[in-house]
Amino acid sequence: MKCQKCIAIFALLCCFAVLVVLIFSSVDIWGDDEDGITEENCSKDCLIVLVENIPGNLSLPRNSKPNLSLFDGLNTLLDQARRSVEIVDTEHPSLPQGQLLFHRLLSLNSRGVKLKIASSQTNSSELKDLAAQAEINFVNQTAFTRGGLHSSFWIVDRKHIYIGSADMDWRSFSKRKELGVMVYNCSCLALDLHRVFSFYRQLHDRDYIPSIWSKRVTALYGMHGALGLQLNATPATAYVSTSPELFCAKDRTKDVDAIGQVIQSAHTFIFISVTDYLPLVSRSFKGASVTRYWSPIDDVIREAMVLRGVRVRLLISFWKKTHPLTFNFVTSLQSLCVQLHNCSLEVVSERNRKEKKNDNQLPLNHNKYVVTDSAAYIGNHDWVGSDFVKNAGVGLVMKIKTRSTESRVTILDQLKAAYERDWTVLNLFVFCSFFYKLKVYSLI
Ligand SMILES: *[C@@H]1O[C@H](CO)[C@@H](O)[C@H](O)[C@H]1NC(C)=O
Ligand SMILES: *[C@@H]1O[C@H](CO)[C@@H](O)[C@H](O)[C@H]1NC(C)=O
Ligand SMILES: *[C@@H]1O[C@H](CO)[C@@H](O)[C@H](O)[C@H]1NC(C)=O
Ligand SMILES: *[C@@H]1O[C@H](CO)[C@@H](O)[C@H](O)[C@H]1NC(C)=O
Ligand SMILES: *[C@@H]1O[C@H](CO)[C@@H](O)[C@H](O)[C@H]1NC(C)=O
Ligand SMILES: *[C@@H]1O[C@H](CO)[C@@H](O)[C@H](O)[C@H]1NC(C)=O
Ligand SMILES: *[C@@H]1O[C@H](CO)[C@@H](O)[C@H](O)[C@H]1NC(C)=O
Repeated sequence: MKCQKCIAIFALLCCFAVLVVLIFSSVDIWGDDEDGITEENCSKDCLIVLVENIPGNLSLPRNSKPNLSLFDGLNTLLDQARRSVEIVDTEHPSLPQGQLLFHRLLSLNSRGVKLKIASSQTNSSELKDLAAQAEINFVNQTAFTRGGLHSSFWIVDRKHIYIGSADMDWRSFSKRKELGVMVYNCSCLALDLHRVFSFYRQLHDRDYIPSIWSKRVTALYGMHGALGLQLNATPATAYVSTSPELFCAKDRTKDVDAIGQVIQSAHTFIFISVTDYLPLVSRSFKGASVTRYWSPIDDVIREAMVLRGVRVRLLISFWKKTHPLTFNFVTSLQSLCVQLHNCSLEVVSERNRKEKKNDNQLPLNHNKYVVTDSAAYIGNHDWVGSDFVKNAGVGLVMKIKTRSTESRVTILDQLKAAYERDWTVLNLFVFCSFFYKLKVYSLI
């Protein structure tokens, strides 16, 4: 009798132990092959380089020196690879430059470099070709938020990273104005970005977000605990943000909050460059589409303009996908400045409506960043409510600490220079003023 009890208890204990083991293994089963670098001894002395893709026929002022091209930047990153390359694939690389990169990815294996890809493509012939060489994780974004996987970043050897507006789409190398950064020798930031990548890997072939997460996806840095580092020998802080909210693991800052913080910390100017600006969220609810006002970014811009007198510039595009209400929201921002001193919102929208027919063939400003006097945010999303709510993306926030007395050119200075160049080019060459546009638009 006694013994039966013992056996029952023993069996129960065994079951419990097995359960515990199962839970922990399922949580950490995707855990990483450790390579010895931890938050304690990672490198914070980083080299940061601005990369751009400038469409062939967007004529730049003669005297301006072009920045490193995106294509060359990504190639350099692959040159550095010794152990691993981790990328998020969103599109098919079908133009020569995209193909070249694709072939370099194919050959990584022969150099002993592991390639890992997170992708939302199920039927990409490139991915099928890579399948034998790479570990591919499928993220079914439709199942989570009915959105897309728009994240665009590379991690090489958990040491060097790329974040920017360009995906692996051939248009990124030809017809789109893109901007991003390469950060070299920066394992602290790379470790954190790697955690976002691990998050995607854990979603492989799932259609729900697990309720228990591995500690290995918890954010290392965020808006309330940014990483202190050197960017080109200038003291700075940085962190990685993500969206949608559902994809923010423990301690991870949301993209929207990151943008909010950057705008709120501006004192003199805020320069924004995005393809689309639209403070609306559309969701389908019981088969019908429901649209709501989505205020977080609009709010902080209004506050900066009206209450703090910060100069705001908005560089957006006018193309086939521009939502007609864009202009109403932008005009509403502008009208706030009426009769106010030190309130300024200037808008330039790129391109004109005649080119509607074959938009893919035309250059498009695909930048997605904001730069201010003290900080910058470079992300993957346009500033459209639905993008932040549904699509997966990442952003990088950089803040320069009090400037040293020596007048070294910082990454913020470089971003600002690139912005001012685009602003002038678009203002003078491509065309006309926003209000003219507005009229043209209403005549369609
Ligand atoms: C970093 O620290 C971990 C333990 O905290 C150690 O195992 C590893 O060897 C260290 N790596 C380097 C490069 O010092
Ligand atoms: C830009 O280049 C494309 C094709 O390369 C051409 O179709 C288009 O007309 C050009 N646009 C301008 C403004 O030169
Ligand atoms: C998958 O791709 C092949 C060619 O690459 C195409 O023929 C087929 O229709 C595609 N299937 C789907 C479901 O898109
Ligand atoms: C992605 O998820 C959606 C919704 O759950 C499902 O209908 C679809 O079949 C999934 N796609 C793949 C390739 O598994
Ligand atoms: C990274 O650091 C190593 C050692 O400090 C140095 O040899 C290498 O040139 C650096 N790489 C870059 C891209 O700066
Ligand atoms: C406007 O800004 C200038 C300098 O930036 C400052 O001197 C002036 O007091 C400001 N005016 C108002 C009304 O805030
Ligand atoms: C990047 O472009 C801007 C604008 O043309 C320029 O001022 C800056 O010097 C360039 N940076 C580099 C490193 O070439």
